[in-house]
Amino acid sequence: MMQKLRTNSDWSASTPMLPAKGPRRLALYRALRGLIESGQMKPGDKLPTTRDIAGRFGISRGAAVAAYEMLVADGFAEARVGAGTYVAEAVPLLPLAPEPQVIEAREAQAPLPGALGCSTADETTLRIFRMLMNRHLTQPSARHFHYNDPAGSLALRVEVAAYLKAARGVACEPDQVIMTAGTQQGLDLAVRALLKPGDPVWIEDPCYAAARELFEGTGLCVTPVPVDGEGIDVSSGIAARPEAKAVYVTPSHQYPLGVTLSMARRLALIDWARGAGAYIIEDDYDSEFRFAGPPLSALQGIDGEGRVIYLGTFSKTLLPGFRFGYLVVPRALRERVLTIRRLTDRFPSTLAEDALTEFLRDGHFSAHIKRARKRVKAARDALVAALRSDRLTVTVPEQGLHLVAELDGAEDDCALVAQARAVGFGVKALSPLYAGPTDRRGLVIGFSGFEPEVLAQAARRFVAGL
Ligand SMILES: Cc1ncc(COP(=O)(O)O)c(C=O)c1O
Repeated sequence: MMQKLRTNSDWSASTPMLPAKGPRRLALYRALRGLIESGQMKPGDKLPTTRDIAGRFGISRGAAVAAYEMLVADGFAEARVGAGTYVAEAVPLLPLAPEPQVIEAREAQAPLPGALGCSTADETTLRIFRMLMNRHLTQPSARHFHYNDPAGSLALRVEVAAYLKAARGVACEPDQVIMTAGTQQGLDLAVRALLKPGDPVWIEDPCYAAARELFEGTGLCVTPVPVDGEGIDVSSGIAARPEAKAVYVTPSHQYPLGVTLSMARRLALIDWARGAGAYIIEDDYDSEFRFAGPPLSALQGIDGEGRVIYLGTFSKTLLPGFRFGYLVVPRALRERVLTIRRLTDRFPSTLAEDALTEFLRDGHFSAHIKRARKRVKAARDALVAALRSDRLTVTVPEQGLHLVAELDGAEDDCALVAQARAVGFGVKALSPLYAGPTDRRGLVIGFSGFEPEVLAQAARRFVAGL
């Protein structure tokens, strides 16, 4: 039953409705303030008790008390000791902030088979991680209880440096390694340490969208440089923008086309960088997944003059949710990068670092990569077999976790993406990854994170509708 309220002005006939969503105290504050500002509640009127008003609006007493405190704090009401709360004699003229928008929080949608960036971690890997994380939670190191090195733990950097020397030919010592929250943070740190808005940089064309967006968003002057069968065309870059201050490249496995930067181009790129005093930002995101023959060594190992900033990630090898990657920087840049890192997110998660250190040190990582490589190769083969269609030209990649199914230049790859998704195949269009108009059309398709048969079924459903 509606309660009888003790107020001087009768505003009960126009009792406002509170919006269904959002904090109750704010909603009541806004409703009462509206009554006061519109004159329906007059200066000197006594407000109902918080118990009365809470019952009337069906909210908690605490919310009503908080709303009254806000009215008093903003000068719309006065609390008189022992007598209650009254509308202020002089109501202030304050602009009311716009109604807060209640945005429905939505979980990211689960990726469909064929989506890029899905983890290769299997049950064995997860079980070992569970055990390592549990151990570090049960016997926590003193490190977790205070602030740490912005470069990441020395023990982990020792492991990463040893791995990079042995597996990728990267010439580095642990002091050059900086642990990051994935490649994306590494790129951001590199850009902020090396460049300023307006600086000219080269990117590959087509390019990894997250890198291009970062460069453009930071105000860099981006020159897209064409990629052909040998990787980035260094002479085109020199012809277009010889004075560029940096270049972003994916030499092991160009994203998205999948070509490997040839040795001649590697040497040409390093030569230009030395002459121009430019930096090469080398994103070596998926080189661990090589299915035939040895990989070419990283550019960083060929350079020898401190012109390369090398980026790697555990997103591809382990899982993106782990948010671990690394930068290898020339010594001259180390302090600059670390200062920026300290001022942004201070240092990496020490708990996760300790688990990862043991995972690397005890040989679990190399065993995991061997298992993952085998599974991913089986998924690649199943996908390739399922993609048989006159309309698709598939080059079987010898490396990485995705392939490109090329289409005729007259096809609409964006429309085909929608068609694929409708049958549960989560592919990406190639043409939007180019900086401008292109006659290249294709579908970029991932083959990690799903069982071969699940992936093949999704691909077959798509091909059947072509
Ligand atoms: C070219 C490229 N670099 C790096 C990454 C990994 O990014 P991160 O380490 O920030 O997860 C990806 C992921 O899709 C990628 O495609």
